Amino acid sequence: MKYGHFDDRQKEYVIMEPQTPYPWINYLGMEDFFSLISNTAGGYSFYRDARLRRITRYRYNNVPIDDGGKYFYINDAGDVWSPGWKPVKNKLDNYQCRHGLSYTIITGEKNGLEVDVLYFVPLGDNCEIQKVKLTNKSSKSKEFKLFSFVEFCLWNALDDMTNFQRNFSTGEVEVKGSVIYHKTEYKERRNHYAFYSINEPIQGFDTDRESFVGLYNGFENPDAVTEGKSRNSIAHGWSPVASHMLKINLAAGQEKELIFILGYVGNAEDDKWESPGLINKKKAENLIVKYQSSVAVNQEFERLRNYWSNLLSIYQLDSHDEKLNRMVNIWNQYQCMVTFNMSRSASYFESGIGRGMGFRDSNQDLIGFVHQIPEKAKERILDIAATQFEDGGAYHQYQPLTKRGNNEIGGNFNDDPLWLILSTSSYIKETGDWSILDESVPFDNDETKAKSLFEHLKRSFYHVVNNLGPHNLPLIGRADWNDCLNLNCFSKNPDESFQTTENKQGGVAESVMIAGMFVLYGTEFAQICRRYGQQKEADLAIFHVGKMKESIKKHGWDGQWFLRAYDYFGNKVGSRENEEGKIFIESQGFCVMAGIGVDDGKAQSTLESVKKHLDCEYGIVLNNPAFTKYHINLGEISTYPKGYKENAGVFCHNNPWIMIAETILGNGDRAFEYYRKIAPSYLEDISDLHKMEPYVYSQMIAGKDAHKPGEAKNSWLTGTAAWNYYAITQYILGIRPEYEGLLIDPCIPHNWNGFTILRKFRNAVYKIAVQNPEHVSKGIKEIIVDGDKTKGLCVPAFGDGKTHNVTVIMG
Ligand code: GLC
Ligand code: GLC
Repeated sequence: MKYGHFDDRQKEYVIMEPQTPYPWINYLGMEDFFSLISNTAGGYSFYRDARLRRITRYRYNNVPIDDGGKYFYINDAGDVWSPGWKPVKNKLDNYQCRHGLSYTIITGEKNGLEVDVLYFVPLGDNCEIQKVKLTNKSSKSKEFKLFSFVEFCLWNALDDMTNFQRNFSTGEVEVKGSVIYHKTEYKERRNHYAFYSINEPIQGFDTDRESFVGLYNGFENPDAVTEGKSRNSIAHGWSPVASHMLKINLAAGQEKELIFILGYVGNAEDDKWESPGLINKKKAENLIVKYQSSVAVNQEFERLRNYWSNLLSIYQLDSHDEKLNRMVNIWNQYQCMVTFNMSRSASYFESGIGRGMGFRDSNQDLIGFVHQIPEKAKERILDIAATQFEDGGAYHQYQPLTKRGNNEIGGNFNDDPLWLILSTSSYIKETGDWSILDESVPFDNDETKAKSLFEHLKRSFYHVVNNLGPHNLPLIGRADWNDCLNLNCFSKNPDESFQTTENKQGGVAESVMIAGMFVLYGTEFAQICRRYGQQKEADLAIFHVGKMKESIKKHGWDGQWFLRAYDYFGNKVGSRENEEGKIFIESQGFCVMAGIGVDDGKAQSTLESVKKHLDCEYGIVLNNPAFTKYHINLGEISTYPKGYKENAGVFCHNNPWIMIAETILGNGDRAFEYYRKIAPSYLEDISDLHKMEPYVYSQMIAGKDAHKPGEAKNSWLTGTAAWNYYAITQYILGIRPEYEGLLIDPCIPHNWNGFTILRKFRNAVYKIAVQNPEHVSKGIKEIIVDGDKTKGLCVPAFGDGKTHNVTVIMG
């Protein structure tokens, strides 16, 4: 069943039914002020850090789900309802939610009154604008009351949800005219406050939750709304909220627009006060004046829309498949930018208090947005690299506010360093900017220990070389990409975390996945060395890579597929000899992506094994058979019920590794089949089962062994976004930035006739028309650039600001 439809022209997903299988959300904000908003107006806002600067409160895992948000209530002669259906949940005559790129429009209609709310965060300002349009569609005049509502968070989201003995006594507000200010802790250590305004005089307000809602009511039936009467309450402690009340008269057919602003203001230490006890409101008032009129708001909204059109214009596909077009052109790119902004911090599955920026995650996310925002990608690379250790190892995460690494979610993941080579090489290929390698970057944020970024890459490379096990394969450390394959953990204590428990010393656990990664990204490193004038380094790197290839062939091969690892004792993991978990996806993907076994049939055999053992209707599962027992030598992976998460779920992040591997062998049909199995736009019709938004990827879809195969969880913040974008655009459609220029090498289903792509690349525009007259999956007969045949598959980086016509004949 579908709950809405795509509107590709507007770049929106239009939800027509408020009771979606799970809240379907969107993100507002591209810089410092962010909001999450669901299709029924649930969600919250924060400034920069979802944990430390939470502006409005949100209760995760609540019953019912998704209660609390940016709510409006109508009291129309005693008939109470909300335009987003929630929180009141009175039946609407019409409902629609349009999730667009960094904005959401929610429209509800009842008894001839239409309320349409546009939510967005303007570029350059720290606020969320809510433009409310009221239309009397009936033939009689109408008099009704409108209530707004937000609940403030006492800033630190973790403290707010735990430290009630203090927090119930700290809340403070001010009200001036139509503006409600939240200033808890402002007089002591904070120099920031929030405000909620409206551009009209109000007839009442509330700032104390209990006065507004009533102690024994819920958000669905606040006393003030039901009675049609604000209390004009001032919060002292307990829970500060902000609600405005307006009495509105609309003649038949009349429309009215109101502008609400939820803002965040920081003041300088010596400029905090207007007079003793009264906060300095200057900055808030300036913002309010700026967005006083609908004209100004509409202008900003247009600017935001243009901003997105520009970002998306860098890669535009025109194919016969509209589901593919909308993934490539709109939604996959959008999701990649959201992972840039949020990393893994705040979604409906990430509470905003758990995780900072992952070293591994952030490097991988970058391959999905580097073409859109190369300058920010550069900054991100340098930030990440600055947390690296001198021996090439890495903190597993760092905090975005401080940009310093920490061990809160563990350390010593031996795959981490290599991802820095992936991100840096992707950046150079996109931009041609080799100077990034000369940048001076600290180790462990210590400026006295700064070295060039090139040196950081070298240390990443040698971190593997210096940490090999008995089979000359890389030691795994705490875990590799698979956080849950904890080969050194041996945890029996339910009160400790798998990620942070001390490793048992003395083991020899090795990872074939890291070995494959090393061959792939080590070769990349060698290429960088050569082009960077470091031929000796390049030769040495190739030597080490060659040795690793040998070790993989000798000790990493299980007969029909690649082993996954050796455990603490040197026993095989992911082998036909194992009872459970005989085959894993990661090493198959990485070894074939690295080209291992392409010459001797191992790669072919591996991908056949993946098809046979791991593929299912909903995607490729991570391992098979699923673990049904706790294997203490394997760790967290065997704690999940079978078919979920890392225990044989379809972990969507790694499916593209197999897609890319298939393109390396020229299997375009299969690569695309895997692509469409997990691409959300193709799953729209099974929304009842899939449950998550049909416009973004989820981290995990329950695998074939699960209780409910096909049910997804953890939408939005996942490396799945970047990897799928990378696989479809660079390997299946095959338009791939390389050091020398734009490589063109599609690998597509054989029955496609072709497609066209507009690609902006290093200050030139490429109009690429791919034709497939002989219906092959891979292979190029000729490439004609501006009328001339080129040699090879690489189109030069013209950098001349002009448009170039590229005709590609497959065959
Ligand atoms: C999560 C983590 C990622 C890890 C993956 C597999 O997505 O963010 O770092 O690689 O799980 O365990
Ligand atoms: C758990 C999850 C894994 C995630 C990790 C992050 O291990 O299973 O997917 O990466 O937590 O801390």
